[in-house]
Amino acid sequence: MDDKTLVEHALKARSHAYTPYSHYAVGAALLTSDGGVYGGCNIENAAYTPSNCAERTAFFRALFDGHRDFVAIAVVGGSADKPASDWCAPCGVCRQVMREFCDPNSFRVIMGRAEGEPKSYLLRELLPESFGPQDLGKPDPQAC
Ligand code: THU
Repeated sequence: MDDKTLVEHALKARSHAYTPYSHYAVGAALLTSDGGVYGGCNIENAAYTPSNCAERTAFFRALFDGHRDFVAIAVVGGSADKPASDWCAPCGVCRQVMREFCDPNSFRVIMGRAEGEPKSYLLRELLPESFGPQDLGKPDPQAC
């Protein structure tokens, strides 16, 4: 699947965002190694801390369905009352969740917008010198 198609999935997922507090809507689309796509949106909470980012929503949905091998994630975001017009970079917590399950040398993070070409990064560029499962004696995440 090309990056623009994955961004289209993220734009659709963004329409489900629940953002009464920030009014900043984010959508994500996670591509599994078998070609499946899991959408996610941010889901906020009146107590703030329980809020969940779009990227983690997508990961947790896919993980619950038994997926462990991931290729890329597309992320789009911006003011909820407008088309996704910002470059929305994943927060640090979401980068660390990606690190748990993905090879930083091959997993790609695609930042998209409603219009124009997306940008693509390797996870290792967004989370250099990372701490991961192998630091606790566990196997590295499988190569994606
Ligand atoms: N947010 C995401 O869903 N993903 C990101 O990568 C950055 C931030 C959400 C969290 C919160 O609901 C809103 O955007 C504003 O921070």
